[in-house]
Amino acid sequence: MTPDPIPPTIEWSDGHVRIIDQRRLPGELVFLDIATVEDLCDAISTLAVRGAPALGVAGAMGVALAAVTGADVREAAAHIVATRPTAVNLAWGVERALAAADPVAEAQRLAAEDVARNRSLGAYGAELLPDGARVYTHCNAGALACVGYGTALGVVRAAHEVGRRPTCWVGETRPALQGARLTAWELDRLGIPATLVADVMAGSLMASGDVDCVVVGADRIAANGDVANKVGTYGLAVLARHHGVPLYVAAPTSTVDLACPTGAGIPIERRPTREVTELAGARIAPDGMEAENRAFDVTPAELVSAIVTEQGVATAPYGPALAALVAEAQG
Ligand code: MRU
Repeated sequence: MTPDPIPPTIEWSDGHVRIIDQRRLPGELVFLDIATVEDLCDAISTLAVRGAPALGVAGAMGVALAAVTGADVREAAAHIVATRPTAVNLAWGVERALAAADPVAEAQRLAAEDVARNRSLGAYGAELLPDGARVYTHCNAGALACVGYGTALGVVRAAHEVGRRPTCWVGETRPALQGARLTAWELDRLGIPATLVADVMAGSLMASGDVDCVVVGADRIAANGDVANKVGTYGLAVLARHHGVPLYVAAPTSTVDLACPTGAGIPIERRPTREVTELAGARIAPDGMEAENRAFDVTPAELVSAIVTEQGVATAPYGPALAALVAEAQG
């Protein structure tokens, strides 16, 4: 088998956590070894490791780190969960490791399961794409956002692998530019044709009939199917509905939060305003300018055409469909 062109985003290695340092991409592919919970929390807050499924594994590995370094495990868990409040996978991974007799083994198990889950999700999602689909993507929901393979990009990748010749419009995703820096890098490595666009061009592309579907990931899906994902997703969903373009959400069942009845209950992370007032470290706004930086928004379920999980595809009404898929996943 040819090796995966994208190495694992996060793994447990010799008593510490090894991640791809995503702050350095696309310039250089470098790994960062993390030996303390404090350094892991810093890596999470500064987006060295990011994306909901990767954060789930990072959460579990953080508890494992606390256990092997003799730190207070409960205190470490609370600290880790507080770093990024929207992605429910982070709390999910932490809880899984806390409940396990051996947190290291549990964290490694979650990491190993991630790729298989995403391949399954990808195969279900590929069925939704027409031949030669022109897919609009937002943020990065690829291998880098998981341990490997990806969710939204996993759908594109699965379609590519079975010869359906998908191509991607890659939205740059201001302010942190996960699309321009990470999704573009991944698609290049995978040999999937891709074109980078400024976020503000999405409406024009849909109006000219150049988008067949939008495929995005999710950070948390409420029990009724409302979806929190990278800010800008809601705007894309409104545009897609106006232009009759389907919007698919691809996420593992661990992203579904049945305890959260609707999107109104999903906490939205606020990030440092300098991400908005600066570009690549250079100030672009006048000194003293106020800025608001919400990292995520909520797309109401009625604008979502389908939710693709590793257990199958949910369509409206999402309440019963998601509950059934989560129950299946829990075996
Ligand atoms: O702020 P980020 O880069 O962690 O945001 C990531 C996203 O919004 C992704 O779409 C989501 O986590 C799904 S990743 C498979």
